[in-house]
This record gives sequence, C-alpha cells and structure tokens, in this order.
Amino acid sequence: MDLEFIKRVGIAAAYKGGNVLRSHYGRIAKIDKKGAIDLVTEADTASERKIIATIKRLFPDHAILAEESGLNIGEPDHQWIIDPLDGTTNFTHGLGLFSISIAFVLSGETVFGVVLIPETGEIYTAVKDKGAERNSQPIGVSETRLVSESLLITGFPYNSKDIINPLMTRLANCLSASQGVRRLGSAAIDLCFVACGRFDGFWEQNLKPWDTAAGEFIAREAGAVVTDFSNKPFTIDKKEILATNGKIHTEMLSLIQLKDGRLLKS
Ligand code: IPD
Ligand code: CA
Ligand code: CA
Repeated sequence: MDLEFIKRVGIAAAYKGGNVLRSHYGRIAKIDKKGAIDLVTEADTASERKIIATIKRLFPDHAILAEESGLNIGEPDHQWIIDPLDGTTNFTHGLGLFSISIAFVLSGETVFGVVLIPETGEIYTAVKDKGAERNSQPIGVSETRLVSESLLITGFPYNSKDIINPLMTRLANCLSASQGVRRLGSAAIDLCFVACGRFDGFWEQNLKPWDTAAGEFIAREAGAVVTDFSNKPFTIDKKEILATNGKIHTEMLSLIQLKDGRLLKS
C-alpha cells in the first residue's frame, strides 16, 4: 500500500472539508440535535459529503465509517474513519477550536491520520513508523515526569449527566494532583496537543471511533502511550482513553482508575 498516496488524499480531503466548515462558520442558520446536547449542523453534513467524495473519487472500493452517515460498506481491509467536524458545540458558539479528523485503517491497523484545525491553520499528520508532524515539522510528546508538573486535558461526553459522579471524581483527582486541567471541546485536538507536548496527558470516557482514530494514532507516532483506563492498549472501538507522554502514565492511571465510583488507591 502506498501510504504517501493515502497521506496526500487524506490531507486533500481534510482541506476540502475545512473549506466547507469555514464557509459555514458564523453563518449557521439551523442546528439540529442528535441528543439532548449533541448538536449537528449543515456544516457537519456538508463537510462529510465533501470529504467522502474526495476519498471515493480515488478509492471507490474503500470502506468508510463517518459520523453523520455511518458505515459505507466497501473493502473491509481498507477503511477510512471520519469526523467531519469535531467540536460542533464550539463551532456553533463561534469558538474556533474545532477540527476535521480522518484516519486510514489497513487490515485493522491505523496507518495514517490527519487532524486539521481550520481556524488556526495547524495540520497534524502521522504515517505508520514515520513519526508525527505539525505543518510538516516533526513533533513529540513532553518530557514532564510528574503529574504535579503537568498540564492535563479532558473532555465531557454528551451523556455526562448519567456518569456525573465518576466524571467528577476523576476530574477532582487530576485537578488536585496537577498544575491544571483544561477542556477544549474537540477530542481530536486534545490528542494532537498531547502529541506536540502542549499537554502532558488526556483522558476521556464515552468517545466514538471517529473522535479518537486519527488523534490517538498521531499521539502514538509522536511518542505517546495510549491505553484504556485499565492500562490495556487502546483500540478504536474502545470508549475510554488515556493518552500521556508515557512518563506520567502510571501516575495518571492511579488518578482515574475507579472502583464503584471511588479511587482504587488513595
Ligand atoms: C465531541 C468532541 C468533544 C468530546 C465529545 C465528542 P463532536 O465530538 O470531541 O471534545 O468531549 O465527547 O463527542 O460531537 O463535536 O464531533
Ligand atoms: Ca467528535
Ligand atoms: Ca463530529
């Protein structure tokens, strides 16, 4: 498989989606709801259509899993996973922290990822065993060795009301132990900001494959350790994710591993 070609197509698709998002940004007339607070706009669907058309023109037989249209069946060994707008809530509020996330999975293994932040112009990419880049420059995770010296990032899922207790316990533990915790509103951006060392660790529960596929791969190629909350290797079907610079991973696990809503260790 020519991964450089996959990369070119993935980047082209991301920029096309980005242009669609920018043309709608600040001009959204209609916002629908997929759940109580889970929004979808015409920008999500238009961006997704453009990204899929770009990929399908060159790879008509590849399978596609995209947030708004679901699974488009094709060759199962060649699958694209797409979030056409990660950070829809930010987007609808005029906050420029939103992204496009596209991953390519070859025979079950992610081998390419791209995350574009249209409003800042930052583009994060990674190709299997080639490392990760931001705007074509190599990036790597931070060197921070202790949570007490770390800046952390998390996210709150749409069903946060249903899981408010464990959510708040994990947040309280990490907030008390670190230099600070941020919440930006795009899991793909959160993971890329771990990849480039802006944050030392990220955790979130209840994510979907399109939220994590590209970002977790970019983070791993940049040197991050990515697991679930039980320290098992992360796979894109998993809902919970812990991505760190590796050096604070064990300490982070001790802060987010809960049993019956309480800390395992104290
Ligand atoms: C959401 C964002 C957010 C995360 C949510 C996701 P969306 O994706 O990644 O940061 O906290 O869990 O669902 O809906 O904006 O594509
Ligand atoms: Ca998303
Ligand atoms: Ca989305």
